[in-house]
Formats: sequence, C-alpha cells, structure tokens
Amino acid sequence: MAKILIIDDEKGICTAIKDILEDEGYSANTAHTFTDGFNELKKTAYDILFLDIWLPDKDGIDGLKDIKSYFPDLEVVIISGHGNIENAVEATRRGAYDFLEKPLSLERILLIVKHLTDRMQLMSDLRESRSDLIKKYDIIGVSKPIVELKRKIEKIAPTNAWVMITGENGTGKEHVARLIHMLSRRAKDVFVEINCAAIPSELLETEMFGHEKGSFTGAHSQKMGKFEEADGGTVFLDEIGDMELSSQAKLLRVLESNTFTRVGGNTSIKSDFRLLTATNKNLEEEIDSGNFREDLYYRINVVPLVVPPLRERKEDIPILMQHFIREACSLNGLELKKVSLPLLELFMAFDWPGNVRQLKNLVERMVVLSEKETMDVDDAPDFLLSGSDDEKYEAGNCCALKDAKEGFEKQFILQVLQANDWNISQSAKILEIERTYLHRKIKAYGLEKFKGTGNV
Ligand SMILES: Nc1ncnc2c1ncn2[C@@H]1O[C@H](COP(=O)(O)OP(=O)(O)OP(=O)(O)O)[C@@H](O)[C@H]1O
Ligand SMILES: [Mg+2]
Repeated sequence: MAKILIIDDEKGICTAIKDILEDEGYSANTAHTFTDGFNELKKTAYDILFLDIWLPDKDGIDGLKDIKSYFPDLEVVIISGHGNIENAVEATRRGAYDFLEKPLSLERILLIVKHLTDRMQLMSDLRESRSDLIKKYDIIGVSKPIVELKRKIEKIAPTNAWVMITGENGTGKEHVARLIHMLSRRAKDVFVEINCAAIPSELLETEMFGHEKGSFTGAHSQKMGKFEEADGGTVFLDEIGDMELSSQAKLLRVLESNTFTRVGGNTSIKSDFRLLTATNKNLEEEIDSGNFREDLYYRINVVPLVVPPLRERKEDIPILMQHFIREACSLNGLELKKVSLPLLELFMAFDWPGNVRQLKNLVERMVVLSEKETMDVDDAPDFLLSGSDDEKYEAGNCCALKDAKEGFEKQFILQVLQANDWNISQSAKILEIERTYLHRKIKAYGLEKFKGTGNV
C-alpha cells in the first residue's frame, strides 16, 4: 500500500486528508512546516506527497524544486488556495503530478491517489516483468543455426509480421514465440495461447472466437474468444498442424476478413492481433496428403522460422546444460553443481530425440538426485549410456578422434568463456592455461562473443 505524506500548516486540512486516506487503507503522515516535512521524507520512503504551496518557512514552488531533486520518484500533488492557481499550474509544469484547490474535495483526493497508485503498480510490474521475461525467454545457444535464429528473431520481433515456427518436439518453439512477443511493441499487451491439439475440435471455434449466451447447450453466458482477448497483443496458435479442416476453413475466413463473430452471434468483431503459429508437423506434406489447406498455409507462413533439432547443434549442449543446472540449483536451493568431463562427453554423444526439453528434464532430475558436488557418469540414466555406445556413435556422427577432440575442446572453451562473461584472465585460470594460449585458441576456433537478445 502506498505511503503518503501531507505537508500543510493548516492542521485541520492535514487531519482531514490523513483520515480519509487511512479509511481507505493507505498509510499517511503529516507535517506542518516545509523543514519538518523534508526531514520526514529523508527518514521514510514515501510514494506520494500532498504539498501546500504557502508554508510559513518556504515558498511551495521552490520547495517543489528541492523535493524533486532529492526524491525524483516521489509523486507530488500541490494544495493551493484560491489566490494562487497560477502557481499551482506552474508547479505541474515543474514536475508536480496535479493540484488541488481549497476547499478540498475528499473524493478528488481519493481519485488522485487511486490513479497514482495504479500507475505506480503498473510501472513496477512492467519494469519487473519485461526484463524478467526477456531473460527467461532468452535463447541459450552458441551454435551457428541458433545464433542465426536469434538474429532473425531480433530483426522480425519489432515488426508486425506473422511468423510460423517449425521444429521437432521440444526444440523450443513456444520459447521462441514468447520471446518474439516480449521483444515486440506488443510486449505490454497480452500473449494469448491456443493449443489446437489439446482442444476438441467442437470447442476450438468457441475458444478462438467466443460464443453468445445460449448458442449451444451449456453456453450459459456470453464468452469472449481468445482472438478478441488478444486485441493489441499476440495470438499464438500452437500445434496448428493438428487443426481440423473445418476449423481451418473458418480460421482462414477470419484471417482474410480481419473480423469475426462469436459463435451464435452476428455482431462483427474486430481485433488487432499479431499471429504466431507453431507446429512440429511438416505442413507441406500435410498439404499433399489433404490434411492442411494450402491457402491457409500461405496466409500464416509470412516469416518462417525453423528451430533445428538439438542433434544438429550439439555445441549448444554444454551451455544449455550449464544454464539448466544453474536454474535447477537455484530453484532447489542447492549449491551450484558441476559436471565431470566424461558426463559432458556422454551428453554430447547422445542424440536427444526429445531435444531441449528432454535435456532440461534430465538435468533437473540429476541435479536433484545426485548427492555429489560434481555430477558424473554414474548419475546418468541407462538410456544415455546405451545411446552413446561405440556402434551407435560410429554410425551416427563418425569422425576422427582428432576432430572429436578438437570439437570438444572448442565447445568446452566456449562454455567456460560464456560462463565467465568472456573475462579472459578468469577463464584462463579456470582452464589452467596461459592467457596468451587462450587467445590463440579463441582465434584458431573463431570463437565469437554473442551479444544475446537481452539487450535489444
Ligand atoms: N534455446 C533454449 N534456451 C533455453 N531454454 C530453452 C531453449 N529451447 C527450449 N528451451 C526450454 O525447453 C523446454 C521446451 O521448449 P518448448 O516448450 O518451447 O518446446 P516446443 O518446441 O514448443 O515443444 P513441443 O513441440 O513439445 O510443443 C522449455 O522449458 C523451454 O523453455
Ligand atoms: Mg510447444
């Protein structure tokens, strides 16, 4: 709840404001001279100040200047008598939020405080959630395809272009969709997700477009659809490849006309949404076999983004492991655990059919179950061991031992550099090599510092 200070030499006014604010649950204090008030502000953090413009020891406008320079975030509301409205207007020009004229309207006081507290809440939510979410949905990875994907996302996110994200299970399609939203101009608005595979087709339409009361048995009240909810924001149609043909036809009509009606209704509704879609199906094949409409495909596939499977970007494995270990340790209140080299090798050799999700789940499980500071091969489940036996390894990514060693060295150095914000001295120390040698390795492997999406 907001903390409020009232500085006015008329004690009656102070008490009246304080009482009404306290009745509404705010915490309020009073002072009767500028000096007392200023000292009080220095002692306690206040959110809102009611400041009388005529005070025995200071002119209000000068006082406002001092207050704003000491406490720039404090919202100041000027209290002015009849004779000095002009001064009050001047005060709002100098950073006061608003002014009140005497005799005071208690209703207006409450209204102003409500506006201010709502605004402060909103600002702090936005500040927190936006940077948290961008961090949460940052795409971890250093491989070429991931770096390219990140660049593409940074480029298209601020536009309004419709994006179709494809990739195998667990590659991070939803993660990408959320990041696009967070980096877009619509970030302040909603991100509405509809999972086309999880909702029975009879209900999908009402989910998307809403329904009117009585439009079908069970429609007891009017319901707003997700497309309407998403006005100003983003709609994410997940698993669009699983949508039935009849729903596809309706969706296409809506996307073409830009308007829709609720099920059972006839009022035409407009909504300004950006459409992101995802699927793990090959839609071209689905079109050939008659399961997906070609016209819808072209409509929604304005910018295609492909998230590659993890087995095609194994150099991301060390940094992903480290990221998920850090996350799991902090979530479970554990000291940061390490990974032994043989375990890392095992993770690198595995093909990860369930992609990043499988890796993440396994890392979380191992972090919780392993009692050692450094997790080792014996903490790994059997499928990981059998998945990397020599035969499979040779049949899969066959390469000379020298290449394998170099590949591993490159990834390992990169991992350490990333973990230490590319601090060369620190990384060299951890790797137990000379700084100059590390510089040579960086150059030889063409390692590059990637700025990441967080600073867009
Ligand atoms: N590059 C990445 N960096 C960090 N986390 C990632 C990355 N890729 C995926 N993840 C995480 O892995 C998990 C799976 O990702 P997500 O749900 O986005 O995959 P998906 O492609 O939508 O999967 P599905 O096809 O099963 O719906 C999520 O917890 C996600 O946050
Ligand atoms: Mg998904």
